[in-house]
Amino acid sequence: MIWAEATREAFYSAVWRTVLDDHGRRIVKFPNDLYVYRELIRRLKPQVIVETGTAEGGSAAFFAEFAPVISVDLQRPERPDERVCFVVGDSTSPDTLAEVTRLVDGRSCLVSLDSAHYSHHVRAEVQAYAPFVPIGGYLVIEDTAIDAYGIESQMYPDGGPGVVAKELVEAGMFEADTECERFGLGMNPGGWLRRLR
Ligand SMILES: C[S@@+](CC[C@H](N)C(=O)[O-])C[C@H]1O[C@@H](n2cnc3c(N)ncnc32)[C@H](O)[C@@H]1O
Repeated sequence: MIWAEATREAFYSAVWRTVLDDHGRRIVKFPNDLYVYRELIRRLKPQVIVETGTAEGGSAAFFAEFAPVISVDLQRPERPDERVCFVVGDSTSPDTLAEVTRLVDGRSCLVSLDSAHYSHHVRAEVQAYAPFVPIGGYLVIEDTAIDAYGIESQMYPDGGPGVVAKELVEAGMFEADTECERFGLGMNPGGWLRRLR
């Protein structure tokens, strides 16, 4: 449980909140997790990266170093990166999904789900976005540490993203790639999911 304690401690510390992209936009991710994304993207070479949850647009800008990016949020970021295609709307609404489907245009995607973390919302996002991931590709369900390590779990009485990640693995559609967790400290334990079928 050393990593559970360390991750909880790190979550509540200010340190990782200072991860910024080249233009000073906040990237709301642990550096370890960014490194894992970089490895995955370099290895898999997805044609597009689809992210739900833009916030300041820092993670989208980070992803844009490697591949075209579609980023979905309820609002457009104040300082949008010109390389990123932003879609404004609820990530699970039919209009948003239709727009993302049009933009993806049949290309293979790596998907990162990082918007609202309520289990019902993540479940709906998985239904909508998992089909963009090819077999062998990755769906990353962010912030599964909420469930695994009891971080801010009082905000998620029906469970958080980790519950949905487990359901997907149990259904046999995805497997958790524990190699992506080898640094120990990270916000996505059990959330780095490789598509099996
Ligand atoms: C954790 S932040 C995203 C962080 C960003 N991916 C990063 O790593 O820098 C979550 C974002 O999800 C957005 N969000 C919340 N509910 C949403 C929904 N139903 N549809 C789309 N975006 C949503 C919020 O507006 C917020 O900007």
